[in-house]
Amino acid sequence: MILCFSGTGNSRYIAKRIADELQDEIVDVNAKIKALDYSPIKTGDNAIVVTPTYAWRIPKILSDWLSKTNLFSAKRIWFGVVSFKCSR
Ligand SMILES: Cc1cc2nc3c(=O)[nH]c(=O)nc-3n(C[C@H](O)[C@H](O)[C@H](O)COP(=O)(O)O)c2cc1C
Repeated sequence: MILCFSGTGNSRYIAKRIADELQDEIVDVNAKIKALDYSPIKTGDNAIVVTPTYAWRIPKILSDWLSKTNLFSAKRIWFGVVSFKCSR
């Protein structure tokens, strides 16, 4: 499962590329944050979080949501961090 937060669409584009490649689903974290939805999410073995860098870190709004949301069944959590000029 791919969990995507995006301010201006770049991370969403990267998440879609990953989802197409892996044939995996994208969860729209922006919508979850707006709805104050912290309900547990069954991710499968791999949870991939795609996020921008804002002010040298992942956005606080996203880290707050992650700290309140149980990603259960994840054995590995991968972070794809999108920044000014490249993806890491
Ligand atoms: C308010 C703000 C702060 C940012 N801070 C950083 C930063 O510290 N380091 C960096 O490499 N990129 C920074 N960026 C660039 C974003 O990470 C980059 O534009 C990214 O592609 C945005 O992804 P998004 O379209 O999914 O929001 C910042 C962008 C904004 C708007």
